[in-house]
Amino acid sequence: MTEEPIYPATPEALRESSLLNQWWYYGFELLPGVFAQGHFPQSMPMLPRLMLRNCRLRGMECLDTGTMEGLMPVLMRRGGAERVLAIDGVDHCVEKLAAVQHYYGVSFDYRTVGPMYSLSEKLDGQGFDLINCSGLLYHVFSPLMVLAGLRGSLKRNGLMIVSTNVIVDREAFADFNTKGRLQEEPNTFWYLSTGLLDYALRYLKLAPISCIYQPHEAMDTDWRMRTEKHSGYISVLCRAVDFALPTTDDEWMADSVARSWEYEWIPDWERAQAQPVSRIPTSRLSSRPRDDLGFGRRQRLLRRMPKAIDITSTVEHESAVTEARASDGHSLRLADSR
Ligand SMILES: C[S@@+](CC[C@H](N)C(=O)[O-])C[C@H]1O[C@@H](n2cnc3c(N)ncnc32)[C@H](O)[C@@H]1O
Repeated sequence: MTEEPIYPATPEALRESSLLNQWWYYGFELLPGVFAQGHFPQSMPMLPRLMLRNCRLRGMECLDTGTMEGLMPVLMRRGGAERVLAIDGVDHCVEKLAAVQHYYGVSFDYRTVGPMYSLSEKLDGQGFDLINCSGLLYHVFSPLMVLAGLRGSLKRNGLMIVSTNVIVDREAFADFNTKGRLQEEPNTFWYLSTGLLDYALRYLKLAPISCIYQPHEAMDTDWRMRTEKHSGYISVLCRAVDFALPTTDDEWMADSVARSWEYEWIPDWERAQAQPVSRIPTSRLSSRPRDDLGFGRRQRLLRRMPKAIDITSTVEHESAVTEARASDGHSLRLADSR
């Protein structure tokens, strides 16, 4: 039998503990006024956290990928989620995850899964109303494989938050971090262009319905984030739909959906189609809908098509998030519920 850890119960004991005095990714207030210090500046907003506020979680099942110490799972549970599964590639935060659950009085499940590919298989076909895939796509050899592998785990009509580093450009391309041009961090590979992110999501039957963006030049971090390009961090909220979403001038997407081997093999479409329909609501979203999508006749008839946005236009025309209030950042306080 494994013994329950004993957590420091007084500020003095906590301040002297190895729990508090180790490296933390996020900041956490663990006892009133006693903080584990995260590595982000206070002024930097956490975009997936802001995006989560648009999702109504009461009674929902949620998945957080690349969870670190579990800031998002705490917010999901406090937001009313019935069940939360947090996963990470390696088990580097297991003890801190348990401590956070103790001090915040919430519980969620955790699994270490290795590479984030084939997730719907690794997660035994479980379905989720909301999946958070943030801070992960630039860390993997193949971002498309990760999204495709997750697709079968999303309930029909469910929501996915996809947040990653991007280059703002309507052309669809991915920029590789050759010679550490984009970031020195050795696990960083790709910055997708906003055009490619938009295209890949629609290809995988995910309608982008809202997005927020922060330019790297506005981020005052100890590590280099600026690039020579117009780059930044984006968080996109997507709604799962039953059809790919080509623009009206695009015949290739439908053809590839119908005839490509990879499209048939990699996303588990059978599982995606067999998932129950989620009723997860969003709050009122203000982004302007695009008008160049050729919706399928059946989709129109079913009136199931959410108002999709054009990610690049939204980034270019809507104001970027640059400043964080204390409750918007990468630090969680005991009283925070959002
Ligand atoms: C930059 S952190 C992002 C944390 C959090 N999801 C967020 O958005 O704030 C990256 C997360 O993905 C995990 N990760 C990074 N590279 C990975 C890889 N190649 N395979 C699996 N997990 C990875 C890390 O362990 C960590 O939890």
